[in-house]
Amino acid sequence: MNIGIIGSGAREHALCYKLKQSRSVKKIYCIPGNAGTSEICENLEVDLNNFEELYKVVISKKIDLLVIGPEIPLVNGITDFFEEKKIKVFGPSKSASQLEGSKAFMKKICKEFSIPSAKYEFVNKIEQVEDVINKFNLPIVVKSDGLAAGKGVSICKSKKEAINDIKSILNGKFKTSKNVIVEEFLDGEEVSYFVITDGENYIPIGSAQDHKRIGENDTGLNTGGMGAYSPSLLITSEIDSKIRKKIIEPTIKAMKQKGYPYKGILYAGLIINNSEPKLIEYNIRFGDPECQVLMMRLKSDLLKIIQSTLNKTLDKINIKWIKEYCITVVAASKGYPEKFEKYKEIKKIGDIKQDSSQQIFQASTIKDKQGRVYSNGGRVLSATVINSSLEDARNRALKMLDNLEWENKYYRRDIGYKVIKK
Ligand code: AMP
Ligand code: GLY
Repeated sequence: MNIGIIGSGAREHALCYKLKQSRSVKKIYCIPGNAGTSEICENLEVDLNNFEELYKVVISKKIDLLVIGPEIPLVNGITDFFEEKKIKVFGPSKSASQLEGSKAFMKKICKEFSIPSAKYEFVNKIEQVEDVINKFNLPIVVKSDGLAAGKGVSICKSKKEAINDIKSILNGKFKTSKNVIVEEFLDGEEVSYFVITDGENYIPIGSAQDHKRIGENDTGLNTGGMGAYSPSLLITSEIDSKIRKKIIEPTIKAMKQKGYPYKGILYAGLIINNSEPKLIEYNIRFGDPECQVLMMRLKSDLLKIIQSTLNKTLDKINIKWIKEYCITVVAASKGYPEKFEKYKEIKKIGDIKQDSSQQIFQASTIKDKQGRVYSNGGRVLSATVINSSLEDARNRALKMLDNLEWENKYYRRDIGYKVIKK
């Protein structure tokens, strides 16, 4: 079977790495991919906004299955487009993708189906702002309704800040939406929880702790994620059962009932407080960097799992995991998530040993004709290590990054600090 993986991040590199292990896979294309994916599969440069163009490539390369990494093509309806053309796609439909594409949609589902989540109000007119703000205690969470590449949420410490943020969204700060959601602030620990579902059956497919802030001890600006470890140590069997019964199962049921059956990866961003999980957000895909740690720990054949989702036979399979910890440390260009320089050569990357216990998954990297690798964006690569000790795993990941000669590399040395006791 020939597979096309859509995306260009370390998440997609990890998906290539894992799918390559499947015996049923003949050839993998990564569209558009990065320098890392070009080492293990073939990259194809295609404009992901142009589905007709992509279709021509899918036909000419005889691609049997598309696996979609990022949310934007899903929200734009890539699954519906290719299913209509009888090409298999792993990822939710356009309507089901509203779970991530519209926070208002997700909040309405939570309300209607009693899924625990933060209390909220919608605002779409300047005149409503003060009244709504007065209903909440500080800090107040202000969110834009549409996709905003992780920049659509602010936690406001004063009413004045909240009012300004709301007004700037209403005035069109984000192109995707002028609607605002004001939410109560949820205190507690964040967890990323993943399930795979065929619209009816589902299987948990791992948990992880992401580290979203740029600075050590979770300080500074929010990023796409600076590192993660798996499994999450916060989820006891009691909490796991609550997540499934109170959040995952009602959501899958709700989506079916609404006529938008959800198939693919469902990623719940949760806050746990006093052993009670609450839903902050849904994502319609694997997380990045969470995917890197999940793929290293996954023992079962990922293609078989995906096929069971497409054939609606998920209830007949068992997913096996390596019972060790996995950690990934993301190296970014210094200055990210604000201004940074690109095109810095990453020397010695080829010297790093890569095997089933340690991998460098690349993200924003490019290669020149001589095979030299350069940084090409904010998050550049992630060193991922599996080990029976989380601390040893982290030390090895840091050593891999320390050994790279690269002018403006930046990474946190404290990923997992809440559970690694020195
Ligand atoms: P989102 O884009 O919804 O994932 O939000 C981004 C980040 O903002 C989350 O990962 C949380 O750290 C934080 N956040 C969002 N909503 C809330 C909330 N209601 N209470 C506390 N933190 C939140
Ligand atoms: N790591 C967070 C995300 O992928 O959205």
